[in-house]
Amino acid sequence: MAYAAGVDVGSTQTKAVIIGEDRRIAGRSLLDTGANVIKAAESAYMAALEQGGIEEREVEYVVGTGYGRYRVTFGNTQVTEISCHGRGAVHLFPNTRTVVDMGGQDTKAISVSPQGEITDFCMNDKCAAGTGRFLGAAAAALDIPLDDLGSISLKSDRPIKISTTCTVFAESEVLAWIGKGKKIEDILSGVHKSIASRSAALMRRVGIDDEVTFTGGVSRNEGMVKALEDRLGTRLNISDDCHYMGALGAALFALDHVVAGRAPAAEGAGVSA
Ligand SMILES: Nc1ncnc2c1ncn2[C@@H]1O[C@H](COP(=O)(O)OP(=O)(O)OP(=O)(O)O)[C@@H](O)[C@H]1O
Ligand SMILES: [Mg+2]
Repeated sequence: MAYAAGVDVGSTQTKAVIIGEDRRIAGRSLLDTGANVIKAAESAYMAALEQGGIEEREVEYVVGTGYGRYRVTFGNTQVTEISCHGRGAVHLFPNTRTVVDMGGQDTKAISVSPQGEITDFCMNDKCAAGTGRFLGAAAAALDIPLDDLGSISLKSDRPIKISTTCTVFAESEVLAWIGKGKKIEDILSGVHKSIASRSAALMRRVGIDDEVTFTGGVSRNEGMVKALEDRLGTRLNISDDCHYMGALGAALFALDHVVAGRAPAAEGAGVSA
């Protein structure tokens, strides 16, 4: 069987996905990007091959995406993460019209047409207050593992209103609330609500149409899912594959090349950035 691969080198985590011609995920991996970006891309790819029991020579095309996409030295081409998250989201949830990707550094809102084309997108530019980094700062201040933040926040019944709009000051505000005797779950609930509110504002700039699909690593945080659903007043499409959405989209673009290579006369199988 022929395979295609996508490697999403994010600012925080690197994801690799390998799909077969049936478009199902055959292998995947996730690791921290760290300082050596080239190595992260290679290691993630190798780990995905191993996880799927796939030989490297069986993979016919590799697409790199994410901020480190040009460091995927073994990649055949690169596609932007906006296109890849859109493509992956529409593949998993065909009625997707809006995508919100919350990663380690950036939050991106993406509009897709019923045909799955990107019609608009918007990104938090200067400020990380609406992103995973803000959660990371809160987790560090409270000495709580990132994975537990969401579930703890869901225990809150009196959320604190977080006033800080800057990640740099998030830690000191969280500590100040602790000093005032506030409960950790109420502080964390406030942090999640604050990020949800910023993300919703970003999404409004592209327009929020149902269905909304939540991608990126922060989609694993159940507290963030709930906070964003409450804020938007709509349910979000979520799956265990959502953290891998950029890599999955990249793998689907790679598969287009594999298929186009076999039927050169086929139209519309090109990769768009
Ligand atoms: N199990 C988990 N539970 C809660 N949050 C998580 C979990 N795993 C990852 N995250 C969050 O997801 C973030 C990483 O997400 P992702 O891999 O989408 O980022 P990235 O692609 O590297 O960043 P960017 O797209 O901004 O360059 C982490 O910083 C963390 O906040
Ligand atoms: Mg990303």
